[in-house]
Amino acid sequence: MSALTETPAWQALSQHYRDSNALHMRDLFREDDQRFDAFSLQVGGLLLDYSKNRITSDTMRLLVELAEARGMNERIAAMFDGDKINFTEKRAVLHVALRNRTNSPILVDGENIMPKVNAVLDRMCAFAHSVRSGDWLGYTGQPITDVVSIGIGGSDLGPQMVYEALKPYAHPRMHMHFVSNVDGSQIAETLKDVHPATTLFVIESKTFTTQETLTNARTAREWFLAAAKDEKAIAKHFVAVSTNRQKVIDFGIDPTNMFEFWDWVGGRFSVWSSIGLPIVLALGRDHFYELLNGAHLMDQHFRNAPLEKNMPVLLGLLGIWYMNFYGGGSHVIAPYDQYLHRFPAYIQQLDMESNGKQVNTQGERVDHETAPIIWGETGINGQHAFYQLLHQGTHISPIDLICSIDGRHSMPGHHDILLSNVFAQAQAFMLGKTADEVRAELSAQGLKGEELEAMIPHRVFDGNRPTNTILMKTLDARNLGALIALYEHKIFVQGTIWGINSFDQWGVELGKQLAKKIHAQLVEGSDVSEHDCSTRKLIEYYRRHAR
Ligand code: F6P
Repeated sequence: MSALTETPAWQALSQHYRDSNALHMRDLFREDDQRFDAFSLQVGGLLLDYSKNRITSDTMRLLVELAEARGMNERIAAMFDGDKINFTEKRAVLHVALRNRTNSPILVDGENIMPKVNAVLDRMCAFAHSVRSGDWLGYTGQPITDVVSIGIGGSDLGPQMVYEALKPYAHPRMHMHFVSNVDGSQIAETLKDVHPATTLFVIESKTFTTQETLTNARTAREWFLAAAKDEKAIAKHFVAVSTNRQKVIDFGIDPTNMFEFWDWVGGRFSVWSSIGLPIVLALGRDHFYELLNGAHLMDQHFRNAPLEKNMPVLLGLLGIWYMNFYGGGSHVIAPYDQYLHRFPAYIQQLDMESNGKQVNTQGERVDHETAPIIWGETGINGQHAFYQLLHQGTHISPIDLICSIDGRHSMPGHHDILLSNVFAQAQAFMLGKTADEVRAELSAQGLKGEELEAMIPHRVFDGNRPTNTILMKTLDARNLGALIALYEHKIFVQGTIWGINSFDQWGVELGKQLAKKIHAQLVEGSDVSEHDCSTRKLIEYYRRHAR
């Protein structure tokens, strides 16, 4: 057993699981009409109802004791204080500094980083303002109408998700496009819709070495120069967002057109940095500030609230309860909001790239599960696709149902239908439907005897399936900022419990290295005998059949 699974706190939870896993939420609700009050919490504009979980007050007490035993408060303080908690890369983890709206000093290697955070934020906003106002002109003297953001992973998902979420607030002239895939189809289709004279390309890459991004950026530059026919025009149409000034210069972008960020910002946590430039271009400064304000509010709560009343801590602990004690393997993100349709993909990277780890901070193999598989889709579409498995399949997958009270459209009747589905689904997952209830329902429909009895097993819902409901007043920039920060911190909480480094991502490297070698072999037609027979035959087949 590992240090974690041997702790008295873990052992106490194991025993509690054995004692309590047969409890049904239906009974817990029947016995306690105050359950919602006990297991719900509001932070800023977000209400979290976690009462429809397989928990009692003992469960929560024991989970909080586990968090204490794992030094949760100290780890939270270490992150906010700029300690180099990403130790495999010798880096601080300070996305919280990017939204530190009170501007209190934050030190990295003895330097207060707030002045440079604020300076870049000011430059981004000034630049975005000049583009949005029409002052910034393209090489023919026309204002910019289209922005093509080129990036991948954390340099794409955040800006795209936030833009999609807050689209109703976007500038009507600014048409946003996001290109991430090195499959040339994506950039080819995007370039069909834009014109070189009125398009701004924002090349987003923390390292500025990512093959997919640089390939798309080079294609964009060639397409642009084919029309502009003048390298000097590039300065009006290409800007870069990166931590790597030299690589930006090597690519041919003037460093005065570069918006920097720093190695203490992880890629998947970088939406708050200059990686958010497309957001400012689309939505303007005020909405971006509100995004930061909302995240800062959640940061303050996370840093200061007691563990048992701390929203990210509670969400993280609930995830641990299912992952490690119930043997759950996945977690569903189900926004009931069309504008949040990219949110599951965003959280998927945030969680799985952070906590998809097999060794602890000592480099020892863990003897427990770590990150769940995160997946999801807008809830209402999920209902007509995969909820069957969630209701009657053999897996237990906790589900986060995310919705807002006010819809941001003027379509009468739609929003009440949408929200009634959120509440009904949460109730159905909790209550289920017993054999007796099915029998009564079918007899009322006139079914009897063997025919009725044969139908019952197919129509029974076990229920007792956990959901969290996150309800906000409106999906605006402030609430979205708080929501994203909530998940960031939840993931950190889980990484802390598991004793893993949530801030590196070595697991993505091997594939990149091999792809580089194989790419050279595809292009040069060189010897592939070093490979296993499957890889060799696939390469040979490709070469034989490629146009
Ligand atoms: O390959 C994974 C990854 O390194 C992510 O962590 C990151 O968000 C993405 O690639 C993009 O990296 P970059 O911003 O350096 O282009």
